[in-house]
Amino acid sequence: MCGIIGIVGKQEVAPLLVKSLTRLEYRGYDSCGVATLNSTGIEVRKDVGPVAEVACCRELASASGEVGIAHTRWATHGGVSRENSHPHMSCDRAFAVVHNGIISNHHILRAELQRRGHIFSSQTDTEVFAHLLEETYQTGGAVEEAFIKALHRLEGTFAIAMISSHEPKRLFCAREKSPLILGITPEASFVGSDVNAFSAYTRKAIVLDNGEYAVLSLTGYKVRGIADGKLRDKRATEIDWDVGSAEKAGYRHFMAKEIWEQPEVIKRAMEVPQQEIASLARLIRESRRKILTGVGTTYYVALFGQYLLATLAGEFAPALSSDEAGKLAPMDPESLILAISQSGETFDTLQVLRQARTAGAQTAAIVNVPGSSMTREARLVILQQSGPEICVVSTKATMAQMVLLVRLVAEISRLKRHASATQPLKIFKELTRLSELITVVLRTQQEHIRHLALRYHHQHNWFFLGRGIYTPIAFESALKMKEVTYLHAEGMPAGFLKHGTLSLIDEETPCVFLIPPKEEKELYDLTLSSVEEVRARKGKVIAFSFDETCGNYDEVVLLPKASLWTAPFLHLLAGQLLAYETAVALGRNVDRPRSLAKSVTVS
Ligand code: F6R
Repeated sequence: MCGIIGIVGKQEVAPLLVKSLTRLEYRGYDSCGVATLNSTGIEVRKDVGPVAEVACCRELASASGEVGIAHTRWATHGGVSRENSHPHMSCDRAFAVVHNGIISNHHILRAELQRRGHIFSSQTDTEVFAHLLEETYQTGGAVEEAFIKALHRLEGTFAIAMISSHEPKRLFCAREKSPLILGITPEASFVGSDVNAFSAYTRKAIVLDNGEYAVLSLTGYKVRGIADGKLRDKRATEIDWDVGSAEKAGYRHFMAKEIWEQPEVIKRAMEVPQQEIASLARLIRESRRKILTGVGTTYYVALFGQYLLATLAGEFAPALSSDEAGKLAPMDPESLILAISQSGETFDTLQVLRQARTAGAQTAAIVNVPGSSMTREARLVILQQSGPEICVVSTKATMAQMVLLVRLVAEISRLKRHASATQPLKIFKELTRLSELITVVLRTQQEHIRHLALRYHHQHNWFFLGRGIYTPIAFESALKMKEVTYLHAEGMPAGFLKHGTLSLIDEETPCVFLIPPKEEKELYDLTLSSVEEVRARKGKVIAFSFDETCGNYDEVVLLPKASLWTAPFLHLLAGQLLAYETAVALGRNVDRPRSLAKSVTVS
């Protein structure tokens, strides 16, 4: 949510700032801007629109200076306008700031500053910080002192980067609950909201912790505590991150590329060391209460985990959406909270982990982005190794998380001797075939799904229906459809339909049914009876099915024969493809749907 990049270099930094903005654009994309420091002072160029557009019309890359900061915005305080886009400046134009997070006491600070004569040019919470800096600097001392004094006035969450014409060779940054990472090379020092900001230049990163600030120069960095000013011993760690994944590589959209990367991403999830899975499995076994949590897509992944744990390992582990989990989950030393997150930065999920830790509960996380806040917050962390996911909507990370959950649950059932001795091995073997099955669906069904999308994209209301373990996949497929097409789509357990929702079904309503393999006889029969209920109301039935011959469908997406453990993955893929192709048919902004941002780091 909002991308920040700052660079202290040996040569002009604006071209690098623009490149980094492009890589951070998935964090927010309603406006962007850069501020550079040169012999005439601070120069700010910014505007509304995507990075490529603003870079072109405001000539961002030709701003002059060897020190600079830049920002790509996802609006929270103040509408989408040039004035509200970052960087923001003080009245004397000696300070420029970019910010991610929410300064919760900004109203009070603004009123105070206005009383003392400061003129504001935006409605943002961020701008108060620029004016505060001007005042704290006037009270005497160096810029660093002014920076700390101004930080002490802030409440809420922030990742801030700042430059000042009073200190033209240095860059200042600070973190409180919003992520900030440093990258140091012999040529330049970087600060970014995440590793994508500078991973093209270095993979050595220093992660700032909450309550820390840093001063960057060409000779390196110094990190201190905001509260006590004490020097912190921060070492760089190597971040294993596939930079190439952040390029489109010939695909029309990142979403398509990331869907097609799934066979490879599954293989990488299968290579996550078994020891890590076994440690988490033991922790789950030893904990009296276990709660899975995530939000949006990762809540549905957690729900998938809940079904797996119940059916395969005989464990009751409720999935709670992290935006509400804090009010529901018992947090005590006998509880384990397992968080699932692509970014590792989602505010709601991070809060649950923090709350759990404070209450003495056990914490674990399955996370994609190395060095992210959750990897530091949770006691036990499994990195899913999916590489950068650039499209705002999650696809490949979801699939990898599901693979890890199947592996985890197979291990728990082995430890508990809940399943027959050979079953975990069998599941592992089936998962190793999954990449192949996914490739088959991609090769044989995408074209067909494109045609379906062309036939149905004008329909405004969609249902995605499944039973048992297919329910979370129905939820997730509906979410994908909503996110990228802006159509109304609802995911629902198929059995729930007759308890009210049937009233919405008519000949204009496509109902996508996730039909289980026939071998799951009970689920299969139950799902087919829901199909009949819809057909009786003239609803259009689109079946994702392993069996063309059965059922009374209007359309079928035929999936290759799969086992009980691999079938949900193929349904998920079909749902992703249907959402993607429908969005393309509607001419939507697939990689950056309106109003969304990739990592939601505010409450
Ligand atoms: C859906 C989507 C969001 C995220 C949610 C959690 O496509 O991207 O629903 O899944 O915001 O994000 P992470 O996984 O980064 O914690």
